[in-house]
Amino acid sequence: MNWELLIEQARAARSRAYAPYSHFSVGAALRVKSGRVFCGCNVENLSFGLTICAERVAVCAAIAAGETEFEAIAVVSDSVNPVTPCGACRQVLAEFAADLPICSENLAAKRFESTLAELLPRAKAGILGT
Ligand code: THU
Repeated sequence: MNWELLIEQARAARSRAYAPYSHFSVGAALRVKSGRVFCGCNVENLSFGLTICAERVAVCAAIAAGETEFEAIAVVSDSVNPVTPCGACRQVLAEFAADLPICSENLAAKRFESTLAELLPRAKAGILGT
């Protein structure tokens, strides 16, 4: 998979993060099967638990635009190691995609490629028991 463009879009989204509490900005770019790309950044809140991650912002943008078929997601952060979606984001992604290629990069272009099925095996087992 050619990740360059999607990574670039995630990097641009990261620059729009609202992260005054953690000072940890994250950007995500989600490509859907029609070819459109939906971006997200983390949006924090004074009531810390209301913070929403970049990945879920991207998912919500896609769904609100009527796009439900996901193809790939890129995540960019300024961390020693590239970050992968948190548990909550993995579960939200799994609502729409049985599997999904994920590319995480830090600002030094250190890359970690994974898939949703690797990061969250048996995603629906807790709810459906299967
Ligand atoms: N964060 C994301 O947006 N995505 C991730 O994959 C990891 C964590 C955000 C949430 C919070 O605003 C900040 O990073 C610190 O956890």
